[in-house]
Amino acid sequence: MAFPFTARRPTVPIAFEKLQAMIESEFTESALRFYMNGTKIELQNPNPEWTLLDFIRSQHGAKGTKLGCGEGGCGACTVVLQSMDSIYKGKLKHMAVNACLYPLVGVVGKHLITIEGLGSVESPHPLQERIAKLHGSQCGFCTPGIVMSLYAMIRNSYNPLSGTFTLSASDIELEGHLDGNLCRCTGYKPILSAAKTFILEDLRGKLIEIPADEKIDITVNKDGKDVPYTSEVIPKGMLSKPTVSCGRPGGCCRDKPQPSSSCSLEDSSETSSLESSEAPEEASSASSQTLKLEFIPYIPSTELIFPPALSKFENTSICYGNSKRLWIRPTTLKQLLDLKSLDPTIKLVGGASEVQVEVRFKNSQFAVSVYVAEIEELAEMSVPTSDVQLASMKEFIVGANTPLTELEYACKSLYAGLGRRGLVVEAMRKQLRYFAGRQIRNTASLAGNLVTASPISDMSPILLAAGATIMARRKDGGEFPLPVNSFFVSYRKTSLPPDSVITKIRIPIPAEDIQEVFKAYKQAKRKDDDIAIVTAAFRVRLDEEGNVEDICLAYGGMAPVITEAKNAKSALHGLKWYDSRTLDVGLKALSEDFNLNFGVSGGMATYRRTLTLSFFFRFWHEVVKELQLGEVDENLIQEIHRGVSTGTRDNRNPYEQRVVGKQVPHMSALKQNTGEAEYLDDIPHQHRELYGALVLSARAHAKIEVDWSPALAPGLALGYVDRNSLSKEQNMWGSVRKDEHFFAEDEVFSHGQTIGMVYAETALQAQASARAVKVTYQDLPVILTIDEAIQASSFYQHGRMLRKGVAIDGSIEDAFSKCDRIFEGTTRIGGQEHFYLETNAALVVPHIEDGGMEVWSSTQNTMETQEFVSQVTGMPSNRINARVKRMGGAFGGKESRSVPIAAILAVAAKKEKRPVRCMLNRDEDMMTSGQRHPIQARWRVGAMNNGTLVALDADIYNNAGYSYDMSGAVMDRCCTHVDNCYEIPNVHIRGHVCKTNTHSNTAFRGFGGPQAMFIAESYMTAVAEGLNISVDDLRIKNLYKEGDCTPFLQPIDVDWHIPQLFKETKAQCSFDQRKVAIDAFNKSNKWKKRGIAMLPVKFGLSFATALHLNQAGASVKIFTDGSVLLHHGGTEMGQGLYTKMCQVAAQELNVPIDSIFTQDTTSYHTANASPTAASSGSDLNGMAVKDACDQLNERLAPYWAKFGPDATMKTIAHAAYFDRVNLAASGFWKMPKIGYVWGNYEVSTVKPMYYYFTQGIGCSEVELDLLTGDHTVLRTDIKMDVGRSINPAIDYGQIEGAFVQGQGLFTMEETLWTQKGELFTRGPGTYKIPGFSDIPQEFNISFLQNVEGGWKHLRSIQSSKGAGEPPLFLGASVLFALRDALVSARKDNGVTDYLSLDSPATSERLRLAVGDEILKMGTVVPREGEKNFLVTVA
Ligand SMILES: Cc1cc2nc3c(=O)[nH]c(=O)nc-3n(C[C@H](O)[C@H](O)[C@H](O)COP(=O)(O)OP(=O)(O)OC[C@H]3O[C@@H](n4cnc5c(N)ncnc54)[C@H](O)[C@@H]3O)c2cc1C
Ligand code: FES
Ligand code: FES
Repeated sequence: MAFPFTARRPTVPIAFEKLQAMIESEFTESALRFYMNGTKIELQNPNPEWTLLDFIRSQHGAKGTKLGCGEGGCGACTVVLQSMDSIYKGKLKHMAVNACLYPLVGVVGKHLITIEGLGSVESPHPLQERIAKLHGSQCGFCTPGIVMSLYAMIRNSYNPLSGTFTLSASDIELEGHLDGNLCRCTGYKPILSAAKTFILEDLRGKLIEIPADEKIDITVNKDGKDVPYTSEVIPKGMLSKPTVSCGRPGGCCRDKPQPSSSCSLEDSSETSSLESSEAPEEASSASSQTLKLEFIPYIPSTELIFPPALSKFENTSICYGNSKRLWIRPTTLKQLLDLKSLDPTIKLVGGASEVQVEVRFKNSQFAVSVYVAEIEELAEMSVPTSDVQLASMKEFIVGANTPLTELEYACKSLYAGLGRRGLVVEAMRKQLRYFAGRQIRNTASLAGNLVTASPISDMSPILLAAGATIMARRKDGGEFPLPVNSFFVSYRKTSLPPDSVITKIRIPIPAEDIQEVFKAYKQAKRKDDDIAIVTAAFRVRLDEEGNVEDICLAYGGMAPVITEAKNAKSALHGLKWYDSRTLDVGLKALSEDFNLNFGVSGGMATYRRTLTLSFFFRFWHEVVKELQLGEVDENLIQEIHRGVSTGTRDNRNPYEQRVVGKQVPHMSALKQNTGEAEYLDDIPHQHRELYGALVLSARAHAKIEVDWSPALAPGLALGYVDRNSLSKEQNMWGSVRKDEHFFAEDEVFSHGQTIGMVYAETALQAQASARAVKVTYQDLPVILTIDEAIQASSFYQHGRMLRKGVAIDGSIEDAFSKCDRIFEGTTRIGGQEHFYLETNAALVVPHIEDGGMEVWSSTQNTMETQEFVSQVTGMPSNRINARVKRMGGAFGGKESRSVPIAAILAVAAKKEKRPVRCMLNRDEDMMTSGQRHPIQARWRVGAMNNGTLVALDADIYNNAGYSYDMSGAVMDRCCTHVDNCYEIPNVHIRGHVCKTNTHSNTAFRGFGGPQAMFIAESYMTAVAEGLNISVDDLRIKNLYKEGDCTPFLQPIDVDWHIPQLFKETKAQCSFDQRKVAIDAFNKSNKWKKRGIAMLPVKFGLSFATALHLNQAGASVKIFTDGSVLLHHGGTEMGQGLYTKMCQVAAQELNVPIDSIFTQDTTSYHTANASPTAASSGSDLNGMAVKDACDQLNERLAPYWAKFGPDATMKTIAHAAYFDRVNLAASGFWKMPKIGYVWGNYEVSTVKPMYYYFTQGIGCSEVELDLLTGDHTVLRTDIKMDVGRSINPAIDYGQIEGAFVQGQGLFTMEETLWTQKGELFTRGPGTYKIPGFSDIPQEFNISFLQNVEGGWKHLRSIQSSKGAGEPPLFLGASVLFALRDALVSARKDNGVTDYLSLDSPATSERLRLAVGDEILKMGTVVPREGEKNFLVTVA
């Protein structure tokens, strides 16, 4: 082979010159050979900038592997690498990896399996089929990645040599196989249920937690066919053939047409005959029923085989690249050392989990990358197994680049053999379990972790405390030691000489007779897959008298480098361990060791300092226990660990009809599971397509000057668009007020504001070009927080208020003057990032012939997309077709904020007359697209001593950001939900919309409602505690009754079910008994507390203050073969709207559901469609669909009469066509009854704001670790009034998903800014949404049934209610349960002040509220003028 790039030019980096001779002699191969889904691939000199994901997505028909974040934090890109296990010869190894980070060169010699390799819609893999049938896929963008992680787990569970398949529920849930995958829609529960079918169905196991050593181990016959599918523990119905609809996507063969039904109870009394469990879990609710489902059996022997040719694979030295970048794959350590000696600047790449993040996010450029993960000498690890070997083991030697998963498993088996001597390896295992996600652990290495020298590394403190030695080698001079305690020199700098490589790490193992204890601790924002806030490893050795002989307390997260607590070391030396004075000495010395400044980099000074003490406090007790020095409080030692999750859905639908009311799976579910579902960036490459990349402001407020020329250098951008591409009027946009620029003009008002866009032939070129654009900033003052906005009177004009009772004509003070008590407070709730898995994206295809445009957009809003593309292109709307097939999640974030990207691409498409596409990177999306509004309320509540509420006065402020967007409407909904479910006779509420320099905040599921109800429950809590009555009694006492009026004067009508929901939920979840048990638990546990909270939700349905949006159109066309084409204005974002609408049409037209088809939503098919939002998608579009069906039914009635009710639609339509009957109909519906006008306080003329209220109750119980602020949700019960559900499965999914999203909002998800106004939380690394292991351990969902008299006032489609947004607020039950636990802790600590707990209740906020002595020691007091490093803006 010649050097990989043919002609050497003067631009060839010097590094290549140094290596050239060696490459030409030893690295003669430039092709990458491997298999992909069973097919042999030979890639000749591929693009060296490509990751594995770039390669996969460049392949035809391989778009199932998604890009969700590009930083290893979401799992959407997960693929499986199949190879021969190097340790267990003959066994195959299946490794889930993040294709977005994994180096392409690493795939050589392996079998790459992507989602397409598993199955297809026609022939799905059992995993794909089960997740689809069990409703584990909503938007589906996360689904392929999750399927692949489970696939790796299942395949690794089967040993073909012995024919055994070993899997337990703990394997699925507790071993971290899914900790690298996120899902924003489902709430995870159905995915776990689907995974557990492999135990129930295929292994005949039980869904209980099984100790690792008692795992079920069942021999499967070679062909797998003899596996008996009967067992007492399998719900009966799951094993038998279905007798009713199996609910397969697209309909079931058993869906027999029956006469049409309407929405009344009498007409829809057909009862469900479903039999067996959907979620095959223990029933805990008497009303629970089970569904009957049939699954494809899992037969391991039918899986994709390992390509025989790969068994003969021989590792070869490879080099490929171009004049800018080279990839080298040496096969031996010698080769590597030679390369290093020739050029010490070459970049070694192991798992690439650090290197690729640097390339992608820090713009690092490595001219020569050398892949070292497959060099055998660097991955050796000997794990003794015999007793003799174990007894003589003095050190554990780990190969530098041994994958962390292998290390994790080795530590587990070593600890089992070594016992207490192996506490150091047990500590390693524990840290590794919570180190990144499984995909990262499968590839990342210890050497990579050490060399990165992160101050919050999880492994470095362990190696430091253990006294480990790093072994390095250079070409000349052989191997040399580098003790860990002198390895870290300064921030991210080590003492490793540049010309050397790490070969192994030696970790000492103490002798049997030594009294040594080793423990490690980590606290992060999220338990799974999160970088630590503080991480620590402690080792203490005691002499025979129990005095400290040697001690090392190593911390990460407390300084620019991993640090040993030196003061504490010397203070503790020689002291008797089991003496409480030693504990005090240690704590005091540690507080001196870590005397942080309040404004310390990274923030959280008090929390971090307190954690250092808390960890030591726990350690002291653990040592006492481990060495049996005395009695200790067990509960202090135990960290929070969750068990296997359980739960129920009641699965009983007395209102089920032929199609409506059935649990039909999402119609795209199988497509999503097989990777066949097409999202925007999966649309095939268009002829002459260009790719766009935004140039975003790096400052929050500044004057700007832009130099585009560097971006237009050869090989970079072809052109750009900016403010000069549009007239002043064209450049303005906004959903409600046009106050925002598409392109910034001279001044930027927010970090992340769009300045312009460059476009190039490829995405990589476009992104490089965007980075090259030079923007000069002249900073201006920044307003970030609501407090700052109030101080500066920085508001948008809004001026809306609500008055009720005496406040209508007089002053609310008259009501307060009559109250026994008045309470006041300030409640704050932070914002929330949508974190839909698919970022905003669009593709604009110009039509040359007529100047029109096809605008594909990931949008909830085709109308506004069309309108603004029309504005910027100057073409009338009838030439612009805005289209959306499906979105990978939206949650409100694509209601207005999707518009600019489509419009900007249209400007470029018009200019270049070429198609232009762009999908935002995760950080770009988070910076530009806005979030849920942070809100602050300053309230006063007046009450009588008996608990009767009398008056509410409140000023509510939201942080709108730099443009108005929909912030006024969000404030309106907020003001109209601040009553939650409580009658307060006198109310005066004023809403204020703050103008700041954050991104423009926007719609997010709940639209201000959850924030408002949080405020309500906060003042209810304050009143209850102030009056010393139970908050539960206060709630019940003040609940609305029929006939009461809301603050917007809408009567509470007879469909008011909150009292009934309260009563039933209380009984079903044994609320009173559990409260007693919690009190008893709290009395006997000092360092763990439990709490419980039960909250109601009342959520108004309709676009509240935009009356015009409460309309919808649909069109239904029947073809002569009986098939039906359905279009409506609603968009599919995972919420199952298309499925529900097909059910409605199938029910109304009396046809099977699989004869209905909806392709996409387009502005050509449905003009002027309202955005799909406000939980009204089904209400509005469903009625429009029904209207169209009604028209068709009327026209077809004579034919049904003629041919009879059993006739097929084909017969009917055919006959009607020949009679020249119009078989197409347009439906339309506008919501009646509503029409509230702000400022009208005349009760007799006020029209309702909302069409109806969706109602529900949520009850959560939690356990809180007071030492760390960590918690787990032990149980959640939710009961919702969703009317007569069109599709219970979809509604259960909406409820579970919304709850978990709410749980994130109220406990974990914290958006943070730097003091200068840059958004700090810009990706999954810094912004944590709940993962698999955060969901309630027991999670029960049920619907309100047995409603006396039915839903008399409900006039919605099929008498159903919107369920998308309302349950989200119930996530606050977790926050209030945590508060309940804290109150108990504070009582123990003698703290009697009222606890005002703002949202989110992060582990930091929780820990800082405990009020104990350790916290006092850890408290950092700000110096004059000193500010926190990061800012929250509520
Ligand atoms: C999503 C995500 C989550 C993470 N979570 C955690 C976490 O929870 N805890 C934590 O501590 N870290 C975490 N990390 C950081 C990272 O994964 C670790 O530092 C990892 O151990 C790096 O290993 P690697 O093999 O992937 O290194 P690479 O990225 O391949 O390399 C990192 C550095 O090490 C050098 N290097 C690699 N091998 C050698 C060698 N043999 N000799 C000399 N130099 C070498 C490389 O040149 C490079 O400079 C996370 C990273 C990501 C992306
Ligand atoms: S795209 Fe790879 S982990 Fe998110
Ligand atoms: S279904 Fe998981 S992110 Fe949407």
